[in-house]
Amino acid sequence: MLILGIETSCDDTAAAVVEDGALARSSVVSSQDSIHARYGGIVPELASRRHIEMIIPVVDEALAAAGVKINDIDGIAVTQGPGLVGSILVGLSFAKAVSLSTGIPITGVNHITAHTHAAFLREPGAPDAPPDLPFVALIASGGHTTLLLQETHTAYRILGQTRDDAAGEAFDKLAKLLGLGYPGGAIIDRLAKEGLATAFPFTRPYLAKGSLDFSFSGIKTAAMTVIKGLDPAPDHKTVCDIAASFQEAAVDVLVKKSLWAVKATGARSLVAAGGVACNSRLRERLAQAATAEGINLSIPPPRFCSDNGAMIAALGYYQFKDGRTADMTLNAVPAWDGF
Ligand code: KG4
Ligand code: ZN
Repeated sequence: MLILGIETSCDDTAAAVVEDGALARSSVVSSQDSIHARYGGIVPELASRRHIEMIIPVVDEALAAAGVKINDIDGIAVTQGPGLVGSILVGLSFAKAVSLSTGIPITGVNHITAHTHAAFLREPGAPDAPPDLPFVALIASGGHTTLLLQETHTAYRILGQTRDDAAGEAFDKLAKLLGLGYPGGAIIDRLAKEGLATAFPFTRPYLAKGSLDFSFSGIKTAAMTVIKGLDPAPDHKTVCDIAASFQEAAVDVLVKKSLWAVKATGARSLVAAGGVACNSRLRERLAQAATAEGINLSIPPPRFCSDNGAMIAALGYYQFKDGRTADMTLNAVPAWDGF
């Protein structure tokens, strides 16, 4: 079964063709980073306008790279939310129009639980090593930080969420404070390799004992206070030390809470996904923890951790198998609690 996945929930226009919920025959992502960089964050109106320009070329490229025509596609999976409503509506309206004109069935997908399905994807020629269900999933991105128990492909239970900033948002804000550019996660990751993680002892916000919720605004404010207190402005070495110390604090919390969630649910497998799962220190620390605790860990390659259409197609495949085909009333669901 060939599924065309379409993703426009935020600032990436993405499309992919995935076979049987696993084999990514193509995955095309058109990034808008250069458009939003000068504003230090995403400007929703610019994002939706760019999606309108890019949606047709991106879908055409995904079909061509997979070596198929639209009539070879068995189902269209499209992001319904959560995300920016103007952005979601571009992909959703396009997908509905294609479905209406071709008769190809359509299904609406939750972007956050689609992130966990990146763990089921494989590239052509790569071995198939899907995680065992049920598993705990840590989804850390620019918009969300969530722990959930994925019970079946299409059923999940939320275990914890951020109460304020998302992890990626905190990385981006720190990078902005340090004048490093946008998006900042990958820049902080790179500079942290040259820094000392113990240079600035940022508090780890664990909240109540055993809580699976997150809070990142406190570390961000602590970093802001440190940066504003530096006179003269921080040199390269100090910037690297701040990056390393901040990253270590955030990673400590993400790793520890993931382990708590595994223990609380009795699951044997852990999946990490979302843009922050590209972080090299987080990947390293999760791997160490999984080995020490005997947990099966699955972290998709970076191109499937950050926003992409293949993860949408992978989850969509299982929704079609469950008979969840939508009609033309399919609408955007900008907030998570709308699902
Ligand atoms: O999943 P994603 O591509 O989009 C959203 O759904 O938000 O995640 C983007 C986020 C950004 O905040 C970006 O700074 C962060 O992921 N990110 C990273 C790294 N690469 C991307 N954060 C920390 N370390 C990285 N290497
Ligand atoms: Zn995402």
